[in-house]
Amino acid sequence: MTREKQRLSSCDLRSRWWLDNPEHPGTTALCVERFMNYGMTLEELTSGKPIIGIAQSGSDLAPCNRHHIDLVKRVKDGIRAQGGVPFEFPMHPIYENARRPTAALDRNLAYLGLVEILHGYPIDGVVLTTGCDKTTPACLMAAATVNIPAIVLSGGPMLNGWRGNERVGSGTVIWELRKRLAAGDIDYATFLARATDSAPSIGHCNTMGTASTMNALAEVMGMSLPGSAMIPAAYKERPIVAYETGQRCVDMVWEDIRPLDILTREAFENAVVVCSALGGSSNAPVHINAIARHAGVELNNDDWQALGHRIPLLANVMPAGAYLSEEFHRAGGVPAIVNELLAAGKLHGQAKTVNGRTLAENAEGRETLDEAVICRYHSPLVAHAGFINLKGNLFDSALMKTSVIAEDFRRRFLSNPADPDAFEGRVVVFDGAEDYHARIDDPDLEIDESTILVMRGAGPVGHPGGAEVVNMQPPEKLIRRGIESLPCLGDGRQSGTSGSPSILNASPEAAVGGGLGLLETGDRIRIDLGRGEAHVLMDQAIWNSRKEKQAARGGYIYPAHQTPWQEIQRELVEPLDRGMTLRPAVRYRDVARRSPPR
Ligand code: FES
Ligand code: MG
Repeated sequence: MTREKQRLSSCDLRSRWWLDNPEHPGTTALCVERFMNYGMTLEELTSGKPIIGIAQSGSDLAPCNRHHIDLVKRVKDGIRAQGGVPFEFPMHPIYENARRPTAALDRNLAYLGLVEILHGYPIDGVVLTTGCDKTTPACLMAAATVNIPAIVLSGGPMLNGWRGNERVGSGTVIWELRKRLAAGDIDYATFLARATDSAPSIGHCNTMGTASTMNALAEVMGMSLPGSAMIPAAYKERPIVAYETGQRCVDMVWEDIRPLDILTREAFENAVVVCSALGGSSNAPVHINAIARHAGVELNNDDWQALGHRIPLLANVMPAGAYLSEEFHRAGGVPAIVNELLAAGKLHGQAKTVNGRTLAENAEGRETLDEAVICRYHSPLVAHAGFINLKGNLFDSALMKTSVIAEDFRRRFLSNPADPDAFEGRVVVFDGAEDYHARIDDPDLEIDESTILVMRGAGPVGHPGGAEVVNMQPPEKLIRRGIESLPCLGDGRQSGTSGSPSILNASPEAAVGGGLGLLETGDRIRIDLGRGEAHVLMDQAIWNSRKEKQAARGGYIYPAHQTPWQEIQRELVEPLDRGMTLRPAVRYRDVARRSPPR
């Protein structure tokens, strides 16, 4: 039970050190004179109003979050109405689809930048504008490290994409169309035209990809206003909740509600459970584990399986289901999912949230409004929808998202009555995405319907940030025969919008000595989903001799760094199962209180 906090008074505000500091009059004078030169009054700066930062994640380079540029006007109105002073500042831009080598490289960079801003400037509380995949974890990681009052404002998803009467979902449609293009059913112009149908308005991806998943989980963990995460970007409720978020941030400062009061073990367990019910992104365990590490909470992939695997799929949203985020919001959104899981006794209802109320209080009476889109707990879409955490002689941890295992996949690989949870196959190994694209159609690889495709060199060290490339499509010759998927296994990630049941995020990765680095095309591996195991079937002496040969070559070879940050991140990054955090960064916590500005 957390202790009731005293309301702060103006002299408790950390911004006073900069803005009203008789012991350092020069500091105060130098600060206020320059803030005044764009029109702030001396009264606004020095009369003890809380200074509320707004971390602006939108820009021309970050289109999924760009409408935050307009939304913050309402955030500022809300802050002023509640007696605060808004200060908007830019974050490092992150755009999932355009950033090369991968936007994941920028999650930790944006995190570092945000920590320095929140720690080093006169900010009493912060509104974190989120949307595109990595913007949400970057913000929450920084909030945990700095630990000043913080509230998340999602930009919201795009409206439904349509082609005639057919829903067209972000990302998910592209994975489908690529197969049609490979099979020769459509040409390149049709491919592009149909892909853009998925993006009809401002907002982030409208499927339950990483963006929608992470914003939904931020709400579940108590870090945004209830019901706010999934309001479509173009709905009138979006600027209204922006206003309320600004207002609330001011009160959070006076009530001294900080991220580490909210981001408790219970909050993370709630996130794991809800992620399963959402059919959430396979990137969620990476980001949630990272936020937990920054919050000082122990959480690992065993927890994801133990707490999440047996949770049913309730959200009928692509890629695991049929609808899109707009319908998910109209059916009740996150509160309806929470309400259903609370009634089933699967969540910690007492977990605290930014509005000062508990998760259970916020979800009271918020039942599903459309059972086709948000199912009842007792009539789910899939009985067990969470991740399985596989282990064996190839890696210590790799995840499989079970909500997307299609009937066709089960029939082809999991239908042996004597052993219904296991399959075995010959592997074909690729070293990174370029190697895959160059060789996938090579007939000499002898890929057939029982082959397991392996992708390595795609983890956070091998491909700085970790590439989303594990969901490999079969060679064209198989797609033309109607074989549209093969089991895939790799040390990289895959897009949250992909419906592929790949085994991914294998840790340790090949680049740091993981077992995938020793595999050769033609080896056989056995995957046992029931036991949670993955093993290469090989004589130990042969395996050991491969290890020795690789060590003599200097380890698994990966491409050179292209930028300074790639080199720094490669030196400091932890494996995917530990959240891909920076090793020194997770040692810092609550820095705003522990180290007053000097
Ligand atoms: Fe930005 Fe999906 S690409 S949200
Ligand atoms: Mg992605």
